[in-house]
Formats: sequence, C-alpha cells, structure tokens
Amino acid sequence: MEPRRNFIKKAGVLASVFAGQGFFNQLQAAQFIAAAAITSDDPFIAASDEDYWQVIQQAYTVPSNFINLNNGGVSPSPSVVQQAVERYNQLSNQGPSYFMWRILDQGREPLRQKLALLAGCSPEEIAVNRNATEALNTVIFGLNLQKGDEVIGTKQDYPNMIQAWRQRALRDGIVYKQISFDFPIEDDDTIVKAFEQAITPKTKILHITHIINWVGQILPVKKICQMAHRRGLEVIVDGAHSFGLLDFAIPDLECDYFGTSLHKFLSAPIGSGMLWIKKEHISKIWPLVCNDKPQSPDIRKFETLGTRSFPIEQGIGEAIAFHTAIGSKRKEERIRYLKNYWATRVQNIPGVQLHTSLKPGYSCAICGVSIKGLTPAQLDQQLYNTYKIHTVGIVWENISCVRITPHVYTRIADLDVLVAAIEKIASGVKG
Ligand SMILES: Cc1ncc(COP(=O)(O)O)c(C=O)c1O
Repeated sequence: MEPRRNFIKKAGVLASVFAGQGFFNQLQAAQFIAAAAITSDDPFIAASDEDYWQVIQQAYTVPSNFINLNNGGVSPSPSVVQQAVERYNQLSNQGPSYFMWRILDQGREPLRQKLALLAGCSPEEIAVNRNATEALNTVIFGLNLQKGDEVIGTKQDYPNMIQAWRQRALRDGIVYKQISFDFPIEDDDTIVKAFEQAITPKTKILHITHIINWVGQILPVKKICQMAHRRGLEVIVDGAHSFGLLDFAIPDLECDYFGTSLHKFLSAPIGSGMLWIKKEHISKIWPLVCNDKPQSPDIRKFETLGTRSFPIEQGIGEAIAFHTAIGSKRKEERIRYLKNYWATRVQNIPGVQLHTSLKPGYSCAICGVSIKGLTPAQLDQQLYNTYKIHTVGIVWENISCVRITPHVYTRIADLDVLVAAIEKIASGVKG
C-alpha cells in the first residue's frame, strides 16, 4: 500500500479505538495516531523502532531517581489511566451513593464487553474483580470437590494459590499434590508429561501457572489442557502475568477457568483483576462472597462485592484503550525485545547465569539472572545501592536469582545501565 493511504488507514483504525473513549486524552491520542502511522505494521520490526516507543514511554510517569525493572510485581498505569481514576474518585466523593451506583456502575457492562473483546470471549464469561488472588480463589474455593479428590499443582505456582489449595485440603480433606520443575525447560512434552504422570484415578483438577512469576517460563497451557481433557479433568489457569502481555484469546488456551490481575501488564489501575469461566461451568462454581442465586449460570454472581472502588474498576477501560492503541502483538514483541536486549548482552559474561530460556515461545518479559558468589538479596542490593536499579531477589523452592522485568515504558538507555552494572558487579566478585 502506498504510504499516504497506509497512514490514512492506520489513523482511521486508531481513531476508532479512541472513539467512545470520552476521557481519553485527546492530545495523547493524536500523538499515538501520528506515531503508529509511521511505525511498521510488522510487530517484529516495530519492536526496535525507538521513535515509536518514545511516544509510549512519555505516556508514563516514571521516576527520575531510579530505574524500575520490577514491573512483574505490579506495573504502573500511564497518566491517562491515573487521571481517569482521580477524576472518577473526585466524582464519587461529590455524592458517593449517587455517582458510584447510579453513574459509574453504569459503565460495568460496557467494561465487561471491552474486556471480552480483548480476551476474545463472550462478555457472559467475564467477571471484574480486584486481583488475580480473588479471581483464582473464587474458583479454588467455589469448586465442588469431595474428600479424597486430588488436585495437582506445582511447587513453582504462586503462594496465594498454593495456600488456598492447602486450606481446602485442611478443611475439606481434598488431596493437594505438587510436582516440581527445574526451569528453564525448552520442551513442551517434558512439561505435559510431568503433569500427566502425576494424574491418578482420583485427580479432578490441574492448577497451572501460564507464566511462572519467579523466572518467566511460559507453560504450554493448551497442550496441558488437551491432555487433561482427554482424561476428564478440568484446568485452572493462573494468568496473572500473561494477560495484557502475550497476544492470545483465552478460549484458545482450551482451559476451564482463568484468573488474572489487570494491574500487571495491562497497566490497569492498581487493585484490578478479572475472572473468566467457561460458560458451561459457571453455574456449578459457588461465589466466594454471597449472592442471592449462588447456583446461577450468570457470571455476575461473582461481583457481589459490596462497596468497592468504582474509580479503579472504571479506570480499567482507559487502560484497555491505551493497550489497544499499541496493539497486543506489538506490545508483546517490544517487551520480548527489551528482555532479549539486556539478557543477550550479559549471558556470556563469566559468572553470570540466566535462569530463563530466551527462546520466544518460552519467555517474554521476565528473565532471572544471578552472579556466582552473590545471593539474590546481595545482587538486588548492589543493583539498587550503586546503580539505582530496582529489581527483586527471588528465593523460592529450587529458584534463586534476581528477577528483571521491563515494560513498554522501559528505555534502552536504562537497560544499558543494567548491562553495565551486571558487567561491573560480575567482574568484582571472586567466585
Ligand atoms: C503467578 C501469579 N499469580 C497470582 C498473583 C497474585 O496477583 P494479585 O496480586 O493480583 O492477586 C501473582 C502476583 O504477583 C502472580 O505472580
């Protein structure tokens, strides 16, 4: 397509993204449209287009006195999202019961539709809640399981979910079993077989983490689900780190239940999450909080939370507009590019070890790194004290490393500081 027609086509697509987003900052929308029009349609080429990403970087309010490379913990929201939450909050406080219940809550169904569009599913399968813990605990505590029924998870799952299953084991006598992986693993079959071998006639549920938060390993969810379904099992997916990062439709994973945070890679307001349940399963899952029709097939039965932050919920819509303006695949490939940028530059430094595969199907944003002779806490401290780089030291089961997580606003110059810091620290450590 010749360039001018291409520009007009892209501008039209983006304008429709912003249409109806009444509060989306018009100036920023114009900048986005102009930047998107000149970058490549190919996400792999756009991944290294610094002129384009500079526009995105400026949409965030990043600190000037340290470099935040722990976006895996929780991600910041761009200013349009922050401003929306503040606006909705001020509105709420002008007359809470009126503005929250009669005005802002009117945005709930449109929000459900936007989330469904992003997740590639029916709005009737989406419940909005406060975080991944709430979403997944709803399923874990809501399933009808009998004494002796088995659930298989892994030692590398997230603690809140492990604890929820242990609580069910204590209270209801279910059997919670954990398998363990030595990541990185670059072979799907190894992972699928490990789950398969743990299954017994009593197994009812597999609990899997889509992207392992400690080291960023991506699990072959669809293959695990297909294997589980052949054996009559259901699968719960913890997608806290995958939604808003990887470009996928939830139904394509072929899982039964999916819970995620929205305040990680989607950059939605802090304290937002989402639950997806395959339509046919909704009626049998008991709500975590009361509902007048607990056995209803209506997904809204999981939203009887009472008074909560409507500003946060409605701010999710702005984050979806921002995310959509970038494009899911373009965002995924940029963040993977940033991870590879620093990781490939340090991987051959003597004493440095990566704890994450760099093969595209096995990781995206998160990569673990360690330096021989230093504990994760020591490396984390040196990175912060000397270089003002904020990361997180991980010591969990068989994993011991520092976790580095860039986001769309991370600058190449920041990663250059990280690479130089790792080089310097590694050269000064006596192994
Ligand atoms: C894999 C995984 N699951 C669940 C959670 C919990 O997320 P939230 O804080 O949104 O409940 C996290 C948080 O980091 C996580 O990494």
